[in-house]
Amino acid sequence: MKLIIDDAHIEQIKRIYKYYPVDGVTTNPTILAASGRKPYDVLKEIREFIGADAELHVQVVAKNCDDMIEDAHRIQKELGKNTFVKIPSIEEGFRAMRLLKAEGANITATAIYTPMQAFLAAKAGASYAAPYINRIDNMGYDGVTIAQHIHDIFKNNNLNANVLAASFKNSQQLLELAEYGIGAATASPDVIFSLVKNDAITSAINVFIRDFEKLCGEGKTMKDCE
Ligand code: G3P
Repeated sequence: MKLIIDDAHIEQIKRIYKYYPVDGVTTNPTILAASGRKPYDVLKEIREFIGADAELHVQVVAKNCDDMIEDAHRIQKELGKNTFVKIPSIEEGFRAMRLLKAEGANITATAIYTPMQAFLAAKAGASYAAPYINRIDNMGYDGVTIAQHIHDIFKNNNLNANVLAASFKNSQQLLELAEYGIGAATASPDVIFSLVKNDAITSAINVFIRDFEKLCGEGKTMKDCE
């Protein structure tokens, strides 16, 4: 399972890239608005930092097919032809996916709440389908199970698409999808940090350090003990 950052704050992205084995960046219009910066300014900075070949997902905002395609072309022009264009999984979106796929675009189908949306998106040419795990949970359904169903539908129908699960609120949701082996998950910095934020881990490491310092002296580590 690829692990992707769902955020557009460049300093957070740099920090996560420094410490965590991540595979790219996803954004949406709300995430761009939260950055408080001009969309293409921040997106170009992200593209430059993660590199030309890394996965960057950017969403169209237009409502109809023709305008979605124009949004997609501008995204590709500004950020590279390989940029994944996120397209809402609605009627106009399915048509845009088919036309963009015929041009060779990388497509991520987004705003997915039901397995049938994902099935149609994959048939229309999307490489990824993004179910919104936590938002589905909040509707009283089980987001993780729906993502697993989508994964199975893709495999059982030989569709060349993967799940890119989005909208996480806790590490358990991510863990269950990693165990299932879905294609990718994108999570906010807070959720990524929570994967290893745990008092038991900190306490175990502190005990090791304290014990070693008793043996070799305060501040000493393996590199400088006798
Ligand atoms: O792109 C969709 C996903 O990022 C939504 O996440 O946390 O706003 O539900 P959230």
